Amino acid sequence: MENRSDFLIIGSGIAGLSFAMKAASIGTVALITKKEKAESNTNYAQGGIAAVVSGTDNFNLHIQDTINTGVGLCHRDAVEMLVMEGPRRLNELIQLGVDFTRTGDKLDLGREGGHSQNRIVHAHDHTGAEIERALLHSISLNPNITIYENHVAIDLITEHHLGKKISPESQINCWGAYVLDVHRNCVLKFLAQFTILCSGGLGQVYLHTTNPAIATGDGVAMAYRAGAVIANMEFIQFHPTTLFNSGSPAFLISEAIRGFGGVIRSRKGEEFIQRYDSRGSLAPRDIVARAIDIELKKSGEEYVLLNLHHLPPDKIKEKFPLIYETCLSKYRIDITKEPIPVVPSAHYSCGGVKTDLMGRTSIKNLYACGEVAMTGVHGANRLASNSLLEAIVFSHKAFDQAKGINRNDQTSIPEIPDWDDSGTIDTEEWVLIEHDKKEIQQIMWDYVGIVRSNHRLDRAYRRLSLIQNEIENFYKHTKVVEGLIELRNLSTVAGLIIRCALMRKESRGLHFTTDYPNRDDEHWLHDTVITLSDI
Ligand code: SIN
Repeated sequence: MENRSDFLIIGSGIAGLSFAMKAASIGTVALITKKEKAESNTNYAQGGIAAVVSGTDNFNLHIQDTINTGVGLCHRDAVEMLVMEGPRRLNELIQLGVDFTRTGDKLDLGREGGHSQNRIVHAHDHTGAEIERALLHSISLNPNITIYENHVAIDLITEHHLGKKISPESQINCWGAYVLDVHRNCVLKFLAQFTILCSGGLGQVYLHTTNPAIATGDGVAMAYRAGAVIANMEFIQFHPTTLFNSGSPAFLISEAIRGFGGVIRSRKGEEFIQRYDSRGSLAPRDIVARAIDIELKKSGEEYVLLNLHHLPPDKIKEKFPLIYETCLSKYRIDITKEPIPVVPSAHYSCGGVKTDLMGRTSIKNLYACGEVAMTGVHGANRLASNSLLEAIVFSHKAFDQAKGINRNDQTSIPEIPDWDDSGTIDTEEWVLIEHDKKEIQQIMWDYVGIVRSNHRLDRAYRRLSLIQNEIENFYKHTKVVEGLIELRNLSTVAGLIIRCALMRKESRGLHFTTDYPNRDDEHWLHDTVITLSDI
């Protein structure tokens, strides 16, 4: 069974939906998503979109803040494009009906770590959900877009599926993806001349994460298996302030709260982050998360405290309704009166499928956009609220490329074989999938977290290799199910993170290792690049 469209989009966060809106003006769009259409990392984004919209701000300041936070690895051309296109793309969202918070007739601008100015455009503290709402509403009115919910991409379709051997030098083409229709329990071919990965992040590779259950690194894993160039996977951002013991996903306490005046203290009351960086609680995330991690390990405490009770209660409730209500009703914490117990959790992958400034990957007709991509914007650490911005700017660039496809050229996609599951059996071994997933998450949390070492990374690599072999073996003999597809992807991205971390023999931004505690510009002022042929 097959589905043909001009554009295949994998993922329904801000990158996928905004690309869909534009692509639908020139062709037919199939958008596949693993769960319900609103379930994406975007939907959980609290902070907002960083953009230069105030008279006191300027492009140079935003560019410099981004580059300073990225610790030498940001690609300047990508950052300039991001910042300078930002206001235009933001305006498109406003035209579409996104209801950003205003003070009078002006956009209300918040502040977050690493920013020298107030420039975070937001919809109270549920910006992502508001953007999803507006985009999904517009899409529902567009007959050129079909959304396939509960459809899970298994693998990208390339020459490999035609039985051709791919060498490192070959130009690989992408013609779509094999996709599991979860409800009908069958695998379909989704064919398109233009495929774009907008599949979001991979936080589920760690035991504690702000990311929802869907964030299993599918896009990076599929692109890697297809032969795409992957980069900078060692740079995993840990958000400093997630609510202690709030389960999975960990409930995020937005950095905007610190931008509003919230202060992190130890349980003894010390403002200890000042000892690590003079910007204190508003230093970039790598510094704050590492400071918390070190203090917790030294003190043996389980959490630190985020204090807000010196701030006006009415303003807290007005600006952060989601956080206030959730903490009160679900966790019995009145944040206007009591400190919030917080710990860092895995939040964002700065690495991913390497793209150029137009969102093109190293595979022909395969694009990547949003968290799944490594565009060069974030370097070794992402500046807060630059991720939604990256998604709208780069999806627009990919759309500029999409305009070039020849929709009438039916010969551009060869005859693609149906999914072949002969020789596989239905699994009843759910316990194996669950157990392997937990083991990967524990390994990554214990050995590949905020502070790393050669010893920990080697240990992680050895243990993961064993699990990876078992999973591949299980996968070859088992009919595909959602949990198995995700597990295979998690194990692939875990391996990529460990291998990139082992390659980088220095500490920079989000990658800190006790064996090489200093930054080494002489040898490591470049991206960490990895492909299938490197094995
Ligand atoms: C937050 O609200 O703290 C998250 C924003 C981001 O990750 O950029």
